[in-house]
Amino acid sequence: MPIHLLDRRILFVTGKGGVGKSSVSLALGLLAARRGRRTIVAEVSSHEHLQRAFGHDGRRFEEVELGPGLFTISIDPEHAMEEYLRVKAGPIGQVLGHTRLFQALTMATPGMRELLTVGKIWELAQPERRTRDGVPYDLVIADAPSTGHGIGLIRAPRTFAEIARMGPIHHQGSTIAKTLADREFTAIAAVCTPEEMPVNETVALHEELVGYGLDLDAVAVNACYAERFADAELPVLTGALAGAELPRTRAALRAALSERARADVQAQQLDRLEQVLPGKLIRLPFLFAPAIGPAQLDALADALEDQLA
Ligand SMILES: Nc1ncnc2c1ncn2[C@@H]1O[C@H](COP(=O)(O)OP(=O)(O)O)[C@@H](O)[C@H]1O
Ligand SMILES: [Mg+2]
Repeated sequence: MPIHLLDRRILFVTGKGGVGKSSVSLALGLLAARRGRRTIVAEVSSHEHLQRAFGHDGRRFEEVELGPGLFTISIDPEHAMEEYLRVKAGPIGQVLGHTRLFQALTMATPGMRELLTVGKIWELAQPERRTRDGVPYDLVIADAPSTGHGIGLIRAPRTFAEIARMGPIHHQGSTIAKTLADREFTAIAAVCTPEEMPVNETVALHEELVGYGLDLDAVAVNACYAERFADAELPVLTGALAGAELPRTRAALRAALSERARADVQAQQLDRLEQVLPGKLIRLPFLFAPAIGPAQLDALADALEDQLA
């Protein structure tokens, strides 16, 4: 029996932009907090501000409480580096971190931004926090900005550990790489919508992870339409449309048929994904609301809870 997705310490949430990754990350956070886990949802290099869904607009790069047991933070590599140097190297590190040339050189190193970002995620998940006044979290949910970037975050520590054969970077890199490879500590989830391109991207992500000795623990398929009309009802709807004269009736029947057609396309994509990732799909409903706020996140958390049991 695998460990429940929300009983790990780090959960990476990856996927194509716009599929609902941030909403699903927050809903997962809500659910974890409901289960009594002190949880932080970390937005990675994003300018969206998750706190806004909860009506907050506090300072970025700081841990902000959204509700009981639920926190958020924006992670920025430059900020993470300054913090790391401050904690690790004391006042000298702090001075170095503020030096433009040093910053420019460090940030120009390929993979360094990812390493610093994942280092911060890792730090948040440590039972003893390095930062001053840091209170430990039970779970860190990383809302990664895109599929490629998500993979980049996961690979960075191992890459650096391999390049630097010894010394602090090797040590830090391999420590983090070990926790990321530990499936009891770290989980990886993808978010997609039941459409061709996002499904293709999820399949590609799965293959890339497998090639790297990892795997997806779950795939949240977001914005699924309900199957409102059975197959037998389809000819009834089509027949009714042929005989309908009132414009309002015709419009309603057309809307019903078009939703049914979309649900069919979605079902095909869901089947395709289920074949590649059997038993790993979590279906989340399309929410008819002008925006995603606390009520919608609660509804997504409910749907997650039912299927993650
Ligand atoms: N289940 C859903 N039903 C309807 N709209 C959704 C759903 N999930 C997300 N959205 C909407 O889709 C848009 C993108 O969501 P967001 O969570 O910001 O995605 P991402 O982080 O992947 O870019 C937002 O406008 C959000 O309100
Ligand atoms: Mg987002």
